Amino acid sequence: MHLIDTLQGDEQSLPWAVARMLEAGCWECEDVTAWKRHWPSATLCGPMGLRVHVHHATTSAVAAVMMQGYFDLVFIDADHSYDAVKRDIADWWPLVSPGGIMAGHDFSFKDPGTRKAVVESFSSGEVFLDSDAVWWTLK
Ligand SMILES: C[S@@+](CC[C@H](N)C(=O)[O-])C[C@H]1O[C@@H](n2cnc3c(N)ncnc32)[C@H](O)[C@@H]1O
Repeated sequence: MHLIDTLQGDEQSLPWAVARMLEAGCWECEDVTAWKRHWPSATLCGPMGLRVHVHHATTSAVAAVMMQGYFDLVFIDADHSYDAVKRDIADWWPLVSPGGIMAGHDFSFKDPGTRKAVVESFSSGEVFLDSDAVWWTLK
């Protein structure tokens, strides 16, 4: 699992990210110093062998170095402006595997940029709306 965030304005960004991972139960490392070595991209040990890669970077920068079709699920929840959501969808759609899911947060009236970008990007396909303003579509 790869988590990408610029962690804007947070000088203690790595401890903050690790604290969030702990809260989410994505942490079972025996060596608690291991995550420090490669920051701004750290790998944490999650439950049942899950590897959680935390990237302190922009979504575009990480998309540019990932393999096409690699991800079964991509969840978009970064900058909610129209341009940024359009760009995230365009950057990450090729990385979703055939039959995989692209989803995102905040398809809501308070986020018109997200709504417009999602509707435009998938105008020829089906987009489903779920609880907590989550949108998703199948590739
Ligand atoms: C609405 S919050 C969601 C955070 C997280 N997904 C969650 O649910 O807790 C949006 C986040 O996107 C990050 N962000 C904004 N622009 C970004 C970009 N271009 N690349 C990566 N992260 C970005 C911000 O730092 C912020 O933490």
